[in-house]
Parts: sequence; structure tokens; C-alpha cells
Amino acid sequence: MDEKKLYTSYDLDIWKRFAKYLKPYKKGLVYVLCSMLTLGIIDVVMPMMTQYAIDNFILKKTLENFGYFIGIYLSLGFLLVFIVYSFIMVAGKIENDIIFELRKKAFYKLQNLSLTYYDKNAVGAIMSRVVADVSKLGQNIVWNIVDMTWGIAMMTTMIIVMFFINVKLTLLSLTMVPILFLISAFFQKRMLSSNRKVRKVNSIITGAYNEGILGAKTSKVLVREEKNIEEFNVLTEDMRMKSLKSLMYSSLYLPLVVSVGSIGTALVLYYGGMSVASDIITFGVLTLFLGFTKQFFEPIRQLARVFADLQAAQAALERVLDLVEEEPLIKDSQSVVEKYGDILNPKKENWEEIIGNIEFQNVNFWYKEGESVLKDFNLTVKKGENIALVGETGSGKSTIVNLLCRFYEPSSGKILIDGVDYKERSQGWLHSSLGYVLQSPHLFSGNIIDNIRYGNENITKEEVVEAAKLVNAHNFIMKLENGYETEVGESGAMLSTGEKQLISFARAIISKPKLFVLDEATSSIDTETEHLIQEAISKVLEGRTSFLIAHRLSTIRNADKILVIKKGVVVESGSHHELLEKKGYYYKLYMKQFTEEKEIEVFGRNYEVVSN
Ligand SMILES: Nc1ncnc2c1ncn2[C@@H]1O[C@H](COP(=O)(O)OP(=O)(O)O)[C@@H](O)[C@H]1O
Ligand SMILES: [Mg+2]
Repeated sequence: MDEKKLYTSYDLDIWKRFAKYLKPYKKGLVYVLCSMLTLGIIDVVMPMMTQYAIDNFILKKTLENFGYFIGIYLSLGFLLVFIVYSFIMVAGKIENDIIFELRKKAFYKLQNLSLTYYDKNAVGAIMSRVVADVSKLGQNIVWNIVDMTWGIAMMTTMIIVMFFINVKLTLLSLTMVPILFLISAFFQKRMLSSNRKVRKVNSIITGAYNEGILGAKTSKVLVREEKNIEEFNVLTEDMRMKSLKSLMYSSLYLPLVVSVGSIGTALVLYYGGMSVASDIITFGVLTLFLGFTKQFFEPIRQLARVFADLQAAQAALERVLDLVEEEPLIKDSQSVVEKYGDILNPKKENWEEIIGNIEFQNVNFWYKEGESVLKDFNLTVKKGENIALVGETGSGKSTIVNLLCRFYEPSSGKILIDGVDYKERSQGWLHSSLGYVLQSPHLFSGNIIDNIRYGNENITKEEVVEAAKLVNAHNFIMKLENGYETEVGESGAMLSTGEKQLISFARAIISKPKLFVLDEATSSIDTETEHLIQEAISKVLEGRTSFLIAHRLSTIRNADKILVIKKGVVVESGSHHELLEKKGYYYKLYMKQFTEEKEIEVFGRNYEVVSN
């Protein structure tokens, strides 16, 4: 998707799609619209009261019926206060409700969407949709509707009243309106878009700072400083030019509008003045018209701004709607949902217990049509068996376990769990019996206990400690300042990768899953922690059907069966010893690593370049 799509015109389809989401707020919206209509009318009536006062009290120098007049005037004033107060409350509530509702929908969607969605959409882009776009929309749309209704109501009432009083004078004072509107539309649009450009360059500059700071070490090593500074200067210069342009538009707009507006005022004053002199209209009417001519400008400015604003909001609106309405690629069928429930309402009473027999039957799989990753893949795994997958990067190991976890589904063929196609069970059923540890462990902000029992409040602290002991995490946790209550900081910034990995091991086993997947979970760990994890793994895998992907072959030596994968095909399989005896691909791989490890042992250094 093109995130930088800018609209130059209105796309009605998007607004129709959005109308659906406004439905629950119909009552409130109608109230707001009626309030704005009334306000628009009051804004016209108020100056008319002044006119009446001039003509009937001031010029005639009498106070007859002045009491009534004051009464009406005050009532209108109170009505105004009440309407302004209540519409701000109601519109504000709608704004917040819409933001809340869209965020909730988007979040729910994100929890439900298949991993393919995350392949195609960068995390940053998704975040900005959910956070920035949604709140921008809530504000933008609600208050723009408010301003627009008010502007239209006031202008219409004003024009009608003026026509009733004096047609010629009305036409004169309206002459400048189209010109004012054109100027406003021109400038509002440009002001908006140059503001946006400034913001965009600004965020690029922020990004450059970010890179400059985070990559400081790398830059130094690569002697990139001069080049970086050069690039940065180009950016800031760009920012300066764009800011100047934005400034120019803003400073030109007001004087232009005021000049054009005064031409209108002059015309009214000239013709109206003569009419007053020859008694065609009263002095009060002239004042009224002069007032109206000035008053016209505000709604015009507002309308021009609203149109530009809404147009700009279209892109954000489309992004949010696309997300909220995105269909997950992996969906439980209707009948499955009926029997097993969905994520929010699982019917656990109907869930069969997982035993752990797995079968891949003629599985073909591709991420992109025509780029086959697995071809006719067959594999039978018995309950409790430990399977290790070995192969070069890109050979398809992760794909195999992702299919097993049903993060993706076979493009053709079947995966059976305990003899049943897993599509005939719910995703929740599978995932609740699945322990999964990834290469880069992810911790959530909160303390260690919450991280280990993530999502399951029924788990006691004793159980957490037990799990932590099992995976050798207990010792380091106890050394932390607050033990299990230690806050891990955002994404676990306080802990080392190995420590985070131990915690995610504890998390993966605490619900005693029947199936277990470790995808390169030991790759980014120092050797010391690796021994701990090694031990943890063998304890964790005992009695569980498991898939283990590991870069270090020493980790998988004890697996019941090792599959050597090459381009999505199993080229060798067997136990460690069987494969070594075969003297095939595995043997070569093993000998290579073995020598490397020995070299490290002997020379005490690691040839791998470790980046931060
Ligand atoms: N999300 C994805 N979208 C498109 N192609 C992918 C995706 N993930 C992996 N691939 C491709 O599929 C192949 C197998 O990848 P993968 O299963 O991750 O290999 P391994 O885990 O063995 O390194 C590679 O060619 C990779 O580029
Ligand atoms: Mg992988």
C-alpha cells in the first residue's frame, strides 16, 4: 500500500464506507447539526436585533416596549449559551467515542489478522494508523462537520434575510463572495499541504537524528561522519525552504482577503449610504448590511478550511478503514466457530485434548503465487517426538513450523493434528496447546511475573517460580533488585537477550503445552547462557511433541529425528548418529561447525562479527 497517497479530489466511496461507523451516533449527530443550524440563525438574528434597536429606540429616542426587547435579547443570549455548551459536550463525546471505537476495532483486527498482514505492512505504519490516524480522524471529521453546518446555516439564513430586506443591496454585498471563496479555497489548500510537507521533512529530520545517534558507532567505524553531515544539511535546507513557503502562504492570505472584503464593504457603503440619504432604507438596515458583509468572511474561511481538511483526512480515513475492514487470511469456518468458539468466546468445553500426533500430507506452500517454498512436503511426527530442522537460511525451516502453528495455512495439502485436519478445529484450540519461543524474545512492559504468566491471571506465583526454576531462570531473577516483581522496562530493555530468552521459555512452558516450537531460540545467546538454555530445552522437550530449529548443531544432537531441509525439501533425515554415519550434508555441516567451535576454544575468540 502506498502510505503517502495524497488526494487531490474527493472520493465519495471512502465517505460512504465511513458513514457506517457514524450510525451509532446518529442521535448525537442530529442534535449537533440542529444546534449548529440554530446557532447559525442566532448569529444572524443578533445583528438584526441591533438594527431594530437602532431604528426603533436609538434613532427615535424612545424606550417604548424596550422591556420586551431586552427580554427577547436576553433569552436569545441564554439560548446561545446553552446551545454552545451542549453541542460542545455532545460533539466532544462523539469524537471520543469514535476514536475509542475505531481504536478498539483496529486493535481487535490486529490481534486477529494473519501474519501475512504483518509481512506486508511495516510495524511503524500500522502503529501510525492506529494511533495517529484514528485520533486525527475523530477530531478532524466531527469538528469539521460542526463548522461546516454552522457556516452553511449562517450563510443561508443571512442571504435569505438580506434578500427579504433589500435585493439590490444584497446582490452588491454578495459580489465579493465567490472571489473570497476562490481565494480561500486556493490558500487553505496550499497552507494545509505545505504545512504537511513541513511536518514530513520534520519527521525525516527526526529520523536522521535517530540514525545519527543510534548509528554513531557504525558511522565512526565507516568514517561516514562527513557524508552524514552533508545529507543532514540538505535536509535542514529543505525544511527551511518549505517552512518559508508555508509562511508566505499564511502571510499573504489574510491581507488579500481583507482587501477583497473591503471592496464589498465599500460598495455596500456607497450604495447603502445613498439609499439612506434618499430614505429607501433605514440607517439600521445599512448597519445590518455592513455587519453581514463582514460576517460573511468567517463562514467562507471555515468552509474553505473544512473542505481542504476533509480532503486531507481522506488518506488517513482510507488507511484506517482498510485496516478495520481487512479480512484475516486465516479464518475459522462458520461451523468451526459454532462448535469451538472464536478468540473472544472460546467454547473450551468442546475442545478435544491435544495428544500431539502430527502429519503433514502433501503440503505445498508459497507466500507469493508462483514462488513455491514447500513442495509436496510429507512428515509424520508421533506424540512426544522431538524433531529438529536443519538447513541453510531460507531453506524453509521457519515456514514449516509457521504452518504447523497455523500462522499460515498450506496452499494445498493438509496438516493433521491427532488425525484431524487442523482447519476443522479453531485456531484458539491449537494455540492454547502451543508453546512457541522465537529467535528474538519479546517481553511486554510490566514485571517478570506478569511476563511469564502473560494473559493468564489464574496462574499463581508458585507456578511461575516453578516454571522459572525448570528453565534455569530462577537464579538470575532472584538476583534482580525486586526479584519476580522487577519491572522489565519497555520490551525488556533492562535484561540481556539470554535472560529475556529464559523468561520467554518459562512463559512458553507455563501452560504445559502439548506442542512446542523453538525457532532459532538459542542463536543470539552467549555461550554461558546457552548451557543454561540447553539444559532447559532438554527438560522442556521431554514428553512433548516438539520442533526445534537451531543454528548450533550441538543444541539438536539429542533430537529423536533430524530433518535436513534444502529448498523446502527434506534431503536427509535420521538421528544424529545415523546422519553422521551417512557422511552426507549433515556430516559436512557438523564437521564445519565442530572445527569452528574448536578453533574458538583453542584461540579463545569468535570469528563471527557481532553487530549491536
Ligand atoms: N513472510 C514471507 N513472505 C514472503 N516470503 C517469505 C516469507 N518468509 C519467508 N519467505 C521466503 O521463504 C523461504 C523460506 O524461508 P524461511 O522458512 O524463513 O527459511 P528458514 O527459516 O529456513 O531460514 C525463503 O526464500 C524466504 O525468503
Ligand atoms: Mg527461520
